Amino acid sequence: MNINDLINDRLKMLLQNGIDSSAFEIKLLLAHILGIEPKNISPNVEINEHQVALLDNMLKERLAYRPIDKIIGKKGFYKYDFVVSDDVLSPRCDTEILVEKAIELLAPIKSANILEFGVGSGCIILSILADLPCITGVGVDISEAALAITDINAESLKIEPNRLNLLKTSWFDEDIIEKLSNYAPFDMVVSNPPYIITSEIAKLDREVKEFDPLIALDGGIDGLKDYDRILQLSQKLLKPNGVIILEAGDGQQLRQIEQIADKYKIKCLNILKDLNNIDRCIILKK
Ligand SMILES: C[S@@+](CC[C@H](N)C(=O)[O-])C[C@H]1O[C@@H](n2cnc3c(N)ncnc32)[C@H](O)[C@@H]1O
Repeated sequence: MNINDLINDRLKMLLQNGIDSSAFEIKLLLAHILGIEPKNISPNVEINEHQVALLDNMLKERLAYRPIDKIIGKKGFYKYDFVVSDDVLSPRCDTEILVEKAIELLAPIKSANILEFGVGSGCIILSILADLPCITGVGVDISEAALAITDINAESLKIEPNRLNLLKTSWFDEDIIEKLSNYAPFDMVVSNPPYIITSEIAKLDREVKEFDPLIALDGGIDGLKDYDRILQLSQKLLKPNGVIILEAGDGQQLRQIEQIADKYKIKCLNILKDLNNIDRCIILKK
């Protein structure tokens, strides 16, 4: 069977089994198996029986709703590839606007120190550090397993160890200010905290609710349980005029975050839309 027929045949099988897939997804799996870039998959690429068997094993996982990036263990985000596992949220392309805005604001500054609440795979803080070699950063996460993935990604992006400190702690811990004071003050805080309303989690796609960690999704009864604390800590840890960029679920949540920020005398500078034109990020200033 030539490679295009193989792709069409396996895609038909996935779609017939109710999996929302595409030829590109199958190409990602084949590229992983063949050790080539997806764009180099063409009809003259040869594939042997063993490689077809490997593909079919991976497709068994896909039939159980496992997302492609978790099957191959990596996901492209912004300009870089990130190792992912069941312990981290799969980086979403909608989060790239947060990274782009942070880099735009930080690029003119000679040296800056940033803080991320909830690093997960590290896709946000590591993309910033990889693009801007004069930036140092601190990443916080409650999940030790997630921090181990951030560490792997930091190494593969060749971020010098003295530029990044990772702390395993909850932002609700009483001693977090004390722990972070060792690295403060910060020029910028970035965060994509959990923001799904608890009662909405059951309605998410199976790829998300079964394979992203619950701790990365669950934002409590109104989806906002973490924003108050993150803003309270940012007020204490940022330099005067320091900037905060937060991702949220939609414009309604962003308006509520703006009200919470008001409580800490933090002003809204701008709202950013994602690729689907949904209000996604808020930029605030201390
Ligand atoms: C939505 S994920 C974002 C991950 C990554 N920054 C990204 O954008 O793909 C939120 C992260 O916050 C972490 N987290 C959730 N609650 C936390 C808490 N109370 N303290 C510290 N980290 C927490 C989770 O473990 C998860 O890695």
